Amino acid sequence: MRSSNWILSCLIGLLMAFSLSSAWAGVPNNRAEPAYAEEQTILQAEKDSKSPEPGLASKDSGRVHIDRHYLGQYGSKEGTVIVQRGGNQWRVWRNGPLATLSGTILVLALVAVLLVAKVIGKLTSDPDTGRRIQRFTAWERHVHWATAITFIILAVTGIVILFGKKLLIPLVGHDVFAFIAYIFKYLHNFVGPLFIVCSVLMFFTFLRRNFFRKIDWQWFKKGGGMLTHEHVPAGFFNAGEKSWFWFGVTLLGLVMSISGLILDFISFGQTRYVLQIANYLHLIGATFYIAAAMGHIYIGTWGTPGAYHAMRHGDVDEAWARSHHGIWLDEVKAGVPVGTFDKREPPPDHPPAGGAPRDLPPGVRP
Ligand code: HEM
Repeated sequence: MRSSNWILSCLIGLLMAFSLSSAWAGVPNNRAEPAYAEEQTILQAEKDSKSPEPGLASKDSGRVHIDRHYLGQYGSKEGTVIVQRGGNQWRVWRNGPLATLSGTILVLALVAVLLVAKVIGKLTSDPDTGRRIQRFTAWERHVHWATAITFIILAVTGIVILFGKKLLIPLVGHDVFAFIAYIFKYLHNFVGPLFIVCSVLMFFTFLRRNFFRKIDWQWFKKGGGMLTHEHVPAGFFNAGEKSWFWFGVTLLGLVMSISGLILDFISFGQTRYVLQIANYLHLIGATFYIAAAMGHIYIGTWGTPGAYHAMRHGDVDEAWARSHHGIWLDEVKAGVPVGTFDKREPPPDHPPAGGAPRDLPPGVRP
Protein backbone atom coordinates (compact mmCIF):
# COMPACT_ATOMS: atom_id res chain seq x y z
CA MET A 1 0.00 0.00 0.00
CA ARG A 2 2.77 2.35 1.02
CA SER A 3 4.91 1.56 -2.05
CA SER A 4 1.98 2.18 -4.43
CA ASN A 5 1.51 5.63 -2.84
CA TRP A 6 5.16 6.29 -3.31
CA ILE A 7 5.06 5.30 -7.02
CA LEU A 8 1.99 7.51 -7.55
CA SER A 9 3.75 10.51 -5.98
CA CYS A 10 6.77 9.95 -8.20
CA LEU A 11 4.58 9.84 -11.31
CA ILE A 12 2.78 13.05 -10.35
CA GLY A 13 6.13 14.70 -9.62
CA LEU A 14 7.50 13.65 -12.99
CA LEU A 15 4.39 14.88 -14.77
CA MET A 16 4.69 18.28 -13.05
CA ALA A 17 8.36 18.54 -13.89
CA PHE A 18 7.66 17.82 -17.56
CA SER A 19 4.83 20.32 -17.78
CA LEU A 20 6.95 22.99 -16.02
CA SER A 21 9.82 22.54 -18.42
CA SER A 22 7.55 22.78 -21.47
CA ALA A 23 5.95 25.94 -20.03
CA TRP A 24 9.40 27.39 -19.40
CA ALA A 25 10.46 26.60 -22.96
CA GLY A 26 7.47 28.62 -24.16
CA VAL A 27 8.62 31.81 -22.38
CA PRO A 28 10.25 34.19 -24.84
CA ASN A 29 13.73 35.31 -23.85
CA ASN A 30 13.80 32.85 -20.95
CA ARG A 31 17.46 33.51 -20.32
CA ALA A 32 16.76 37.11 -19.31
CA GLU A 33 17.30 38.10 -15.68
CA PRO A 34 13.82 37.69 -14.11
CA ALA A 35 13.52 41.33 -13.04
CA TYR A 36 14.36 42.59 -16.50
CA ALA A 37 12.24 40.26 -18.64
CA GLU A 38 9.11 42.40 -18.83
CA GLU A 39 11.11 45.58 -19.09
CA GLN A 40 12.92 44.23 -22.11
CA THR A 41 9.57 43.53 -23.73
CA ILE A 42 8.47 47.08 -22.94
CA LEU A 43 11.69 48.58 -24.24
CA GLN A 44 11.28 46.62 -27.46
CA ALA A 45 7.66 47.67 -27.83
CA GLU A 46 8.62 51.31 -27.22
CA LYS A 47 11.34 51.10 -29.79
CA ASP A 48 8.82 49.82 -32.30
CA SER A 49 6.18 52.37 -31.29
CA LYS A 50 5.74 55.54 -33.32
CA SER A 51 4.33 57.77 -30.56
CA PRO A 52 6.97 59.01 -28.07
CA GLU A 53 6.86 57.92 -24.44
CA PRO A 54 6.54 60.56 -21.70
CA GLY A 55 9.93 60.91 -20.09
CA LEU A 56 10.78 60.36 -16.44
CA ALA A 57 10.20 64.03 -15.73
CA SER A 58 6.57 63.76 -16.82
CA LYS A 59 3.92 63.01 -14.24
CA ASP A 60 2.49 60.50 -16.74
CA SER A 61 5.66 58.47 -16.56
CA GLY A 62 4.88 54.95 -15.55
CA ARG A 63 1.15 55.39 -15.92
CA VAL A 64 0.48 55.00 -19.57
CA HIS A 65 3.20 52.66 -20.66
CA ILE A 66 1.62 49.52 -19.41
CA ASP A 67 -1.78 50.36 -20.80
CA ARG A 68 -0.24 51.10 -24.15
CA HIS A 69 1.62 47.84 -24.21
CA TYR A 70 -1.14 45.68 -22.76
CA LEU A 71 1.04 44.30 -20.00
CA GLY A 72 -1.34 45.29 -17.26
CA GLN A 73 -5.02 45.46 -16.65
CA TYR A 74 -6.48 48.40 -18.57
CA GLY A 75 -6.85 51.42 -16.30
CA SER A 76 -5.04 54.48 -15.07
CA LYS A 77 -4.55 53.69 -11.38
CA GLU A 78 -1.07 52.93 -10.08
CA GLY A 79 -2.33 49.61 -8.76
CA THR A 80 -3.03 48.41 -12.29
CA VAL A 81 0.53 49.04 -13.42
CA ILE A 82 2.56 45.86 -13.33
CA VAL A 83 5.85 47.13 -14.67
CA GLN A 84 6.73 50.79 -14.84
CA ARG A 85 8.97 51.89 -17.64
CA GLY A 86 10.37 54.76 -15.49
CA GLY A 87 11.62 52.14 -13.03
CA ASN A 88 14.36 51.15 -15.40
CA GLN A 89 15.44 54.77 -15.86
CA TRP A 90 15.43 55.24 -12.06
CA ARG A 91 17.58 52.16 -11.58
CA VAL A 92 20.06 53.32 -14.23
CA TRP A 93 20.42 56.77 -12.64
CA ARG A 94 20.41 55.57 -9.03
CA ASN A 95 22.95 52.78 -9.54
CA GLY A 96 24.99 54.77 -12.06
CA PRO A 97 25.70 58.51 -11.95
CA LEU A 98 24.00 59.25 -8.61
CA ALA A 99 25.73 56.47 -6.67
CA THR A 100 29.07 57.41 -8.25
CA LEU A 101 28.62 61.09 -7.44
CA SER A 102 27.49 60.34 -3.90
CA GLY A 103 30.44 58.02 -3.27
CA THR A 104 32.87 60.59 -4.70
CA ILE A 105 31.50 63.41 -2.52
CA LEU A 106 31.68 61.23 0.61
CA VAL A 107 35.27 60.18 -0.06
CA LEU A 108 36.27 63.79 -0.85
CA ALA A 109 34.65 64.99 2.38
CA LEU A 110 36.62 62.43 4.37
CA VAL A 111 39.85 63.44 2.63
CA ALA A 112 39.07 67.13 3.31
CA VAL A 113 38.56 66.44 7.02
CA LEU A 114 41.83 64.49 7.21
CA LEU A 115 43.64 67.30 5.39
CA VAL A 116 42.24 69.92 7.77
CA ALA A 117 43.32 67.77 10.73
CA LYS A 118 46.83 67.35 9.31
CA VAL A 119 47.48 70.80 7.85
CA ILE A 120 45.52 73.15 10.13
CA GLY A 121 45.51 71.11 13.31
CA LYS A 122 43.50 71.61 16.45
CA LEU A 123 41.66 74.75 17.52
CA THR A 124 43.27 75.12 20.90
CA SER A 125 42.34 77.37 23.80
CA ASP A 126 44.31 79.13 26.54
CA PRO A 127 45.56 76.96 29.45
CA ASP A 128 42.80 75.73 31.78
CA THR A 129 41.97 77.92 34.78
CA GLY A 130 40.32 75.13 36.75
CA ARG A 131 37.11 77.17 36.96
CA ARG A 132 34.31 75.19 35.28
CA ILE A 133 31.07 76.62 33.92
CA GLN A 134 27.91 74.88 32.82
CA ARG A 135 27.37 74.95 29.05
CA PHE A 136 24.69 72.33 28.29
CA THR A 137 21.86 71.06 30.51
CA ALA A 138 21.14 67.33 30.82
CA TRP A 139 18.10 67.72 28.54
CA GLU A 140 20.16 69.45 25.83
CA ARG A 141 22.80 66.72 25.95
CA HIS A 142 20.25 63.91 25.82
CA VAL A 143 18.48 65.47 22.85
CA HIS A 144 21.81 65.96 21.08
CA TRP A 145 22.95 62.37 21.70
CA ALA A 146 19.61 60.86 20.70
CA THR A 147 19.78 62.77 17.42
CA ALA A 148 23.45 61.93 16.88
CA ILE A 149 23.02 58.20 17.58
CA THR A 150 19.93 57.84 15.37
CA PHE A 151 21.73 59.84 12.65
CA ILE A 152 24.78 57.55 12.75
CA ILE A 153 22.58 54.43 12.58
CA LEU A 154 20.74 55.90 9.57
CA ALA A 155 23.96 56.96 7.87
CA VAL A 156 25.63 53.54 8.27
CA THR A 157 22.56 51.50 7.31
CA GLY A 158 21.76 53.92 4.44
CA ILE A 159 25.28 53.64 3.04
CA VAL A 160 25.00 49.85 3.13
CA ILE A 161 21.62 50.01 1.34
CA LEU A 162 23.14 52.27 -1.31
CA PHE A 163 26.60 50.81 -1.86
CA GLY A 164 26.39 47.37 -0.21
CA LYS A 165 25.71 45.40 -3.38
CA LYS A 166 28.81 46.79 -5.03
CA LEU A 167 31.14 46.97 -2.02
CA LEU A 168 30.09 44.20 0.36
CA ILE A 169 29.04 41.30 -1.88
CA PRO A 170 32.59 40.86 -3.23
CA LEU A 171 33.88 40.89 0.36
CA VAL A 172 31.36 38.80 2.31
CA GLY A 173 29.38 36.97 -0.39
CA HIS A 174 25.67 36.95 -1.22
CA ASP A 175 24.39 35.04 1.82
CA VAL A 176 26.04 37.20 4.47
CA PHE A 177 25.16 40.36 2.57
CA ALA A 178 21.51 39.28 2.27
CA PHE A 179 21.40 38.89 6.07
CA ILE A 180 23.11 42.25 6.73
CA ALA A 181 20.92 44.05 4.17
CA TYR A 182 17.76 42.56 5.68
CA ILE A 183 18.63 43.70 9.22
CA PHE A 184 19.93 47.10 8.11
CA LYS A 185 16.90 47.81 5.96
CA TYR A 186 14.55 47.19 8.90
CA LEU A 187 16.78 49.17 11.24
CA HIS A 188 16.73 52.11 8.80
CA ASN A 189 12.94 51.93 8.38
CA PHE A 190 12.29 51.94 12.14
CA VAL A 191 15.01 54.36 13.27
CA GLY A 192 13.95 56.90 10.58
CA PRO A 193 10.79 58.12 12.35
CA LEU A 194 12.69 58.18 15.66
CA PHE A 195 15.30 60.44 14.09
CA ILE A 196 12.53 62.81 12.96
CA VAL A 197 11.22 63.10 16.54
CA CYS A 198 14.78 63.76 17.80
CA SER A 199 15.41 66.35 15.09
CA VAL A 200 12.22 68.25 15.95
CA LEU A 201 13.20 68.30 19.65
CA MET A 202 16.70 69.38 18.68
CA PHE A 203 15.35 72.20 16.52
CA PHE A 204 13.23 73.71 19.28
CA THR A 205 15.81 73.11 22.01
CA PHE A 206 18.57 75.03 20.22
CA LEU A 207 16.57 77.42 17.99
CA ARG A 208 16.84 80.58 20.13
CA ARG A 209 20.67 80.46 20.25
CA ASN A 210 21.04 79.97 16.51
CA PHE A 211 19.67 83.18 15.03
CA PHE A 212 22.36 84.93 13.00
CA ARG A 213 23.57 88.28 14.38
CA LYS A 214 25.76 90.96 12.84
CA ILE A 215 28.68 89.74 14.92
CA ASP A 216 28.60 86.42 13.02
CA TRP A 217 29.63 88.16 9.81
CA GLN A 218 33.12 88.68 11.26
CA TRP A 219 33.41 84.98 11.99
CA PHE A 220 32.60 84.19 8.37
CA LYS A 221 35.05 86.81 7.06
CA LYS A 222 37.83 85.33 9.15
CA GLY A 223 36.88 81.73 8.36
CA GLY A 224 36.36 81.16 12.07
CA GLY A 225 40.06 81.86 12.61
CA MET A 226 40.78 78.32 11.41
CA LEU A 227 43.76 79.27 9.25
CA THR A 228 45.20 81.93 11.54
CA HIS A 229 44.34 80.14 14.82
CA GLU A 230 42.84 83.44 15.95
CA HIS A 231 40.00 83.34 18.48
CA VAL A 232 37.22 85.16 16.65
CA PRO A 233 34.60 86.55 19.08
CA ALA A 234 31.44 84.48 19.20
CA GLY A 235 28.32 84.13 21.30
CA PHE A 236 26.95 80.84 22.62
CA PHE A 237 27.18 79.35 19.13
CA ASN A 238 29.54 80.65 16.44
CA ALA A 239 28.53 81.24 12.82
CA GLY A 240 29.86 77.83 11.74
CA GLU A 241 27.68 76.08 14.30
CA LYS A 242 24.70 78.21 13.28
CA SER A 243 25.25 77.23 9.63
CA TRP A 244 25.27 73.57 10.61
CA PHE A 245 22.03 74.15 12.54
CA TRP A 246 20.20 75.80 9.61
CA PHE A 247 21.69 74.00 6.63
CA GLY A 248 22.17 70.58 8.24
CA VAL A 249 19.77 69.95 11.10
CA THR A 250 16.94 72.08 9.66
CA LEU A 251 17.09 72.09 5.85
CA LEU A 252 18.65 68.68 5.22
CA GLY A 253 16.68 67.32 8.18
CA LEU A 254 13.46 68.39 6.42
CA VAL A 255 14.55 66.92 3.07
CA MET A 256 15.51 63.63 4.72
CA SER A 257 12.38 63.47 6.88
CA ILE A 258 9.86 64.23 4.14
CA SER A 259 11.47 62.01 1.49
CA GLY A 260 12.09 59.31 4.12
CA LEU A 261 8.44 59.27 5.22
CA ILE A 262 7.31 59.02 1.58
CA LEU A 263 9.63 56.02 1.10
CA ASP A 264 8.83 54.44 4.46
CA PHE A 265 5.03 54.51 4.42
CA ILE A 266 4.08 53.52 0.90
CA SER A 267 0.38 52.89 1.41
CA PHE A 268 -0.77 56.50 1.12
CA GLY A 269 -1.39 56.38 -2.61
CA GLN A 270 1.98 57.72 -3.73
CA THR A 271 2.88 56.44 -7.20
CA ARG A 272 6.16 54.79 -8.13
CA TYR A 273 7.05 58.02 -9.90
CA VAL A 274 6.75 59.91 -6.59
CA LEU A 275 8.81 57.21 -4.84
CA GLN A 276 11.55 57.56 -7.44
CA ILE A 277 11.74 61.34 -7.02
CA ALA A 278 11.73 60.91 -3.22
CA ASN A 279 14.58 58.42 -3.56
CA TYR A 280 16.68 60.85 -5.62
CA LEU A 281 16.15 63.60 -3.03
CA HIS A 282 16.83 61.22 -0.15
CA LEU A 283 20.04 60.01 -1.74
CA ILE A 284 21.32 63.50 -2.58
CA GLY A 285 20.28 64.89 0.84
CA ALA A 286 21.94 61.96 2.63
CA THR A 287 25.17 62.57 0.75
CA PHE A 288 25.40 66.22 1.80
CA TYR A 289 24.15 65.54 5.33
CA ILE A 290 26.71 62.78 5.93
CA ALA A 291 29.51 64.85 4.34
CA ALA A 292 28.68 67.89 6.51
CA ALA A 293 28.32 65.66 9.60
CA MET A 294 31.90 64.47 9.11
CA GLY A 295 33.08 68.08 9.51
CA HIS A 296 30.78 68.64 12.50
CA ILE A 297 31.95 65.46 14.24
CA TYR A 298 35.63 66.27 13.63
CA ILE A 299 35.35 69.84 14.96
CA GLY A 300 33.31 68.69 17.95
CA THR A 301 35.85 66.02 18.97
CA TRP A 302 39.52 65.94 17.93
CA GLY A 303 39.39 69.33 16.21
CA THR A 304 38.51 71.36 19.32
CA PRO A 305 39.83 69.87 22.58
CA GLY A 306 37.24 70.44 25.33
CA ALA A 307 34.21 70.52 23.02
CA TYR A 308 33.40 66.81 23.36
CA HIS A 309 33.63 67.04 27.15
CA ALA A 310 31.02 69.82 27.04
CA MET A 311 28.56 67.69 25.10
CA ARG A 312 29.32 64.61 27.21
CA HIS A 313 29.32 66.13 30.72
CA GLY A 314 27.88 69.60 30.18
CA ASP A 315 30.69 71.83 31.50
CA VAL A 316 33.72 73.68 30.07
CA ASP A 317 36.74 75.45 31.49
CA GLU A 318 36.50 79.23 31.65
CA ALA A 319 39.58 79.52 29.41
CA TRP A 320 37.87 77.38 26.79
CA ALA A 321 34.80 79.60 26.94
CA ARG A 322 36.95 82.76 26.69
CA SER A 323 38.81 81.38 23.66
CA HIS A 324 35.91 80.04 21.64
CA HIS A 325 32.78 81.81 22.89
CA GLY A 326 34.00 84.97 24.62
CA ILE A 327 30.76 86.91 24.24
CA TRP A 328 28.82 84.07 25.86
CA LEU A 329 31.30 83.95 28.77
CA ASP A 330 30.71 87.66 29.37
CA GLU A 331 26.97 87.03 29.42
CA VAL A 332 27.43 84.24 31.97
CA LYS A 333 29.60 86.49 34.14
CA ALA A 334 27.18 89.41 33.87
CA GLY A 335 24.28 87.07 34.73
CA VAL A 336 22.26 88.15 31.69
CA PRO A 337 20.31 85.82 29.33
CA VAL A 338 22.27 84.09 26.58
CA GLY A 339 22.31 86.17 23.40
CA THR A 340 22.03 89.56 25.14
CA PHE A 341 25.50 90.79 24.17
CA ASP A 342 25.77 89.33 20.70
CA LYS A 343 22.87 91.52 19.55
CA ARG A 344 25.16 94.56 19.80
CA GLU A 345 26.83 96.09 16.78
CA PRO A 346 30.15 94.45 15.91
CA PRO A 347 33.18 96.73 15.97
CA PRO A 348 34.22 98.18 12.61
CA ASP A 349 37.09 96.44 10.81
CA HIS A 350 39.18 99.64 11.01
CA PRO A 351 38.69 101.48 14.33
CA PRO A 352 37.97 105.21 13.85
CA ALA A 353 40.90 107.58 14.32
CA GLY A 354 41.39 108.63 17.93
CA GLY A 355 41.22 105.20 19.53
CA ALA A 356 39.19 102.06 19.68
CA PRO A 357 35.39 102.24 19.47
CA ARG A 358 33.93 102.64 22.92
CA ASP A 359 30.81 100.49 22.42
CA LEU A 360 32.58 97.18 22.00
CA PRO A 361 30.53 94.21 23.10
CA PRO A 362 32.11 92.40 26.02
CA GLY A 363 34.38 89.62 24.82
CA VAL A 364 35.28 91.58 21.68
CA ARG A 365 38.78 92.95 21.82
CA PRO A 366 39.86 95.65 19.42
C1 HEM B 1 19.70 62.05 8.05
C2 HEM B 1 19.28 60.88 8.17
C3 HEM B 1 19.22 59.87 7.06
C4 HEM B 1 20.22 59.41 6.28
C5 HEM B 1 21.68 59.82 6.32
C6 HEM B 1 19.63 58.45 5.37
C7 HEM B 1 20.32 57.77 4.39
C8 HEM B 1 19.75 56.94 3.46
C9 HEM B 1 20.43 56.36 2.35
C10 HEM B 1 21.87 56.62 1.97
C11 HEM B 1 19.53 55.56 1.70
C12 HEM B 1 19.81 54.75 0.47
C13 HEM B 1 19.23 55.43 -0.75
C14 HEM B 1 19.27 54.50 -1.91
O1 HEM B 1 19.55 53.33 -1.73
O2 HEM B 1 19.01 54.95 -3.00
C15 HEM B 1 18.28 55.62 2.41
C16 HEM B 1 17.13 54.94 2.06
C17 HEM B 1 15.95 55.00 2.76
N1 HEM B 1 15.67 55.80 3.86
FE1 HEM B 1 16.97 57.02 4.75
N2 HEM B 1 18.30 58.33 5.65
C18 HEM B 1 18.00 59.20 6.66
C19 HEM B 1 16.77 59.43 7.21
C20 HEM B 1 15.64 58.70 6.94
C21 HEM B 1 14.38 58.89 7.57
C22 HEM B 1 14.11 59.98 8.59
C23 HEM B 1 13.53 57.94 7.06
C24 HEM B 1 12.08 57.66 7.38
C25 HEM B 1 11.29 58.34 8.08
C26 HEM B 1 14.25 57.17 6.09
C27 HEM B 1 13.75 56.14 5.33
C28 HEM B 1 14.39 55.54 4.29
C29 HEM B 1 13.80 54.54 3.43
C30 HEM B 1 12.41 53.95 3.54
C31 HEM B 1 14.78 54.21 2.47
C32 HEM B 1 14.65 53.23 1.33
C33 HEM B 1 15.33 51.96 1.69
C34 HEM B 1 15.26 51.03 0.50
O3 HEM B 1 15.94 51.24 -0.49
O4 HEM B 1 14.51 50.07 0.60
N3 HEM B 1 15.53 57.65 6.04
N4 HEM B 1 18.43 56.48 3.49
